[in-house]
Amino acid sequence: MLTCSIVGATSFTGTELIRILARHPHVKIGSLTTRSEEKIDARDLVPALGKANDLVIEKFNFKKVARDSDVVFVTLPHTLAMKVAGDFYDEEKIVIDLSADFRLHRADLYEDWYQERHSRKDLLKEAVYGLPEIYREQIKHANLIANPGCYPTGAILGLYPLLKADLIKHDFIVIDSKSGVSGAGKKLSQATQFCEVDENFGAYKVNRHQHTPEIEQTLSEVALAKIDVTFVPHLLPVNRGILSTIYVRRKPGIKKDKLAKAFESFAESEPFVRFYGVGKFPTLKEVQYTNFCDIGIEIDDKSDQVIVITAIDNLLKGASGQAIQNMNIRLGFSEEAGLIGV
Ligand SMILES: NC(=O)c1ccc[n+]([C@@H]2O[C@H](COP(=O)([O-])OP(=O)(O)OC[C@H]3O[C@@H](n4cnc5c(N)ncnc54)[C@H](OP(=O)(O)O)[C@@H]3O)[C@@H](O)[C@H]2O)c1
Repeated sequence: MLTCSIVGATSFTGTELIRILARHPHVKIGSLTTRSEEKIDARDLVPALGKANDLVIEKFNFKKVARDSDVVFVTLPHTLAMKVAGDFYDEEKIVIDLSADFRLHRADLYEDWYQERHSRKDLLKEAVYGLPEIYREQIKHANLIANPGCYPTGAILGLYPLLKADLIKHDFIVIDSKSGVSGAGKKLSQATQFCEVDENFGAYKVNRHQHTPEIEQTLSEVALAKIDVTFVPHLLPVNRGILSTIYVRRKPGIKKDKLAKAFESFAESEPFVRFYGVGKFPTLKEVQYTNFCDIGIEIDDKSDQVIVITAIDNLLKGASGQAIQNMNIRLGFSEEAGLIGV
């Protein structure tokens, strides 16, 4: 059985990975690491492991993790992940990095948006963007998988069938997304304190969120043309989930049936995409604690506007579930292994 380790295992995404990997039928857990000097019982952070579970999260030791692992998941904050992920890649491990550090192909774009020098530019061309619905064939052979961001996952999957089939205009794409608070990670900030979030709702980083270039990079590759988007994120007073409302304009002569058919075919061929139809829309409840991206659409005949609603769980399809899906593809397992009934 192959062995998987998690660097940054105390994180929100790390604890989700522990929960899934502990029940995965084809892999076992090797090392779980933290910066802390003190050992942490994994069951204290992941109660679902049960009281007899003896997995321990220990201070990071590169040699031990390298010795213990075939696959290394890196769940460190962006800008810190690049060195660790690069070092394990150099040791010929399969690395699945949940941070943003290897998602953008262009180092200058990364350095502009993340305000940090990229120390492993040499690996940007090796990394494969881990969105299975678009890059499945490349993921099968990748040793460095850049797991997508949570907002980009919901946004891109809502636009992919439309751009792929050339059904919409490129000059007007508005993505209005609302995320639960776990999307910000466990580090406290003024904006994510209970008193700020509870009974409140607002936009932030309007048109300057760091996920914008990642969305544009992927959509441009799908459309074979430069795509610019307007992306407006909001913070919702819920724990988990992202709902994105996407506004686009159809090309002249494109009928409602054709738009619906594009999504139907997409969902039929993808294990983790569900299409609700025209006039039916997902809510967060349907996707929380699942690896699904659920989609519904509406068409305004007067304005030719197409409205796409997507919903995902930011910690699963937007992070750890997708990371397991990528591992399953890379290792040749069923794509759904460990991911149904999480
Ligand atoms: N949250 C989401 O919905 C989501 C979705 C997609 C992608 N991501 C990305 O996945 C990665 C992990 O996200 P997360 O939300 O799970 O993170 P998180 O809850 O904020 O945890 C980050 C972990 O990194 C470790 N760490 C090591 N050095 C650190 C430092 N200098 N400052 C802070 N933490 C440090 C911490 O573990 P110790 O304190 O135990 O050392 C901590 O548990 C990030 O790059 C994030 O952008 C997150």
